[in-house]
Amino acid sequence: MPRTELSHATMFGTAHALPPHTFIMFGATGDLARRKLFPALFALYQNGQLPAQFAVMGTARTPYTLPAFRADVRAALESFARCPVDADAWADFAEHLFYCPVDVRSPEDFSRLREAVTDIERRFDLPEQRVFYLAMAPELFADVVIQLQGCGLTAARGWRRLIIEKPFGRDLASAERLNDQLQQVFEEAEIYRIDHYLGKEMVQNIEVLRFANSIFEPVWDNRSIQNVQITSSETVGVEERAGYYDQAGALRDMVQNHMLQMVMMVAMEPPSRLKTEAIRDEKVKVLRSLRRLSGAEVASHVVRGQYASGQIAGQAVPGYCSEPGVPADSRTETFVAARLWIDNFRWAGVPFYIRTGKRMAAKVTEIVIQFKELPRMYFNQTGQLLPNRLVIHVHPEEGISIQVNAKRPGTDGAVVPVAMEFGQAPDNSPEAYERLLYDGIRGDSTFFTRWDEVSLAWKFVDPIAESFRMNRVPLALYPAGSWGPAASDQLLAADDARWWPLTGQAPAIPEQVHQAGHPLD
Ligand code: BG6
Repeated sequence: MPRTELSHATMFGTAHALPPHTFIMFGATGDLARRKLFPALFALYQNGQLPAQFAVMGTARTPYTLPAFRADVRAALESFARCPVDADAWADFAEHLFYCPVDVRSPEDFSRLREAVTDIERRFDLPEQRVFYLAMAPELFADVVIQLQGCGLTAARGWRRLIIEKPFGRDLASAERLNDQLQQVFEEAEIYRIDHYLGKEMVQNIEVLRFANSIFEPVWDNRSIQNVQITSSETVGVEERAGYYDQAGALRDMVQNHMLQMVMMVAMEPPSRLKTEAIRDEKVKVLRSLRRLSGAEVASHVVRGQYASGQIAGQAVPGYCSEPGVPADSRTETFVAARLWIDNFRWAGVPFYIRTGKRMAAKVTEIVIQFKELPRMYFNQTGQLLPNRLVIHVHPEEGISIQVNAKRPGTDGAVVPVAMEFGQAPDNSPEAYERLLYDGIRGDSTFFTRWDEVSLAWKFVDPIAESFRMNRVPLALYPAGSWGPAASDQLLAADDARWWPLTGQAPAIPEQVHQAGHPLD
């Protein structure tokens, strides 16, 4: 199908109304639909970004009458919408919602779905421009796509797009299988693989910070940067997802996708143009340069942990193995820290430290760029002057801060670390899903994952997963409510580095005040 490449630069300009379309959502009664997808669609509607001509066809196994389905969506919006639900807006929006129960293994159900969709398209004079959104168990992705083709829904006269949730496979082999199956029906350019971290305001902002400011790019390399630290910590435990999570673990759940995406955004070269494929090409090159760890190397570069019982916000919480649905002897990791190397001219010798975990002390996502230390001449004779840091705050705060050293006002000559901050109110930022749905419906795949990214990410992760499976990396327990196992601190200490305190975290070592040695002394 011919495809025009949108200028990604318009992302940063005025938002355009989306083209007329039918949005066919599988898993429409599930958690993701209720918490994220309907609130995002409704927000787009309230912002005037959805066109006058659109319809949402929800499908799931549960039989629902249309009024019951609409009432369910309304209840979801009451709980999860970003802004209060305006009664008039809801009444209009609800007119666009439809429902058709579908058992994904039943060709008859798909035929009924096709009739329902084509009927709505006729009634509302919608062109056959269809978005298929699979918010369901990944084992069903391939079946659904084959059934969609079988019933004729993918043979649209207009365009069609497939948006799918992660996980995309559980290793390279299964991802390749799934990809082959999807590509029997959809072309790569029609497949939008979601990584919701790419929809986060500050993750998207990395590109702007780097390429719209002349002060950063000249120092963005191994001559000026000592290390990069990327943390995404959560306070929640496994919640009700043991069935999935115990098979996945933090490595597949967070590292293979979200963490590597943030690494790519920080490390990529400036693209030749601000166009989708040019940007994705540069991201892929980062993964190509990412040093793969052999089985024997994994234990010295990767730490895995599992939460034991502890306290979160003053409440006692159980350890991972006592969570409902988790086997008592599970060795699934709920924490991973790793030292990555990007072997190219820009980054040779700069460690990228990543860490992510559940039941940690705070819910924070931050990227810290630590600059090199100064020579020990004037102000750094003791070697204790803090290095400059650029912190990209992704969550809960959104913004950046730069740590510099300055003279304390007065006559004592003390040098103190101070922060220059830019922050924006996260409440005003669209949810990641709003942005991604907007992009997906309009056909901008910049912030979706291309197949070569997925496969290279698995090539990096597979040997680590295998080392975990073979128990070549110790499984370190950490108390719930902590910053992970001690081994994670030791990983950095071995390089003479340490995790910098994150927003809201008391510094492990108090930020010192230094007595400046006067040059004339
Ligand atoms: C999901 C993972 O992709 O990301 C979850 O499956 C995790 O386990 C979530 O909780 C974290 O996302 P966020 O946006 O809350 O940082």
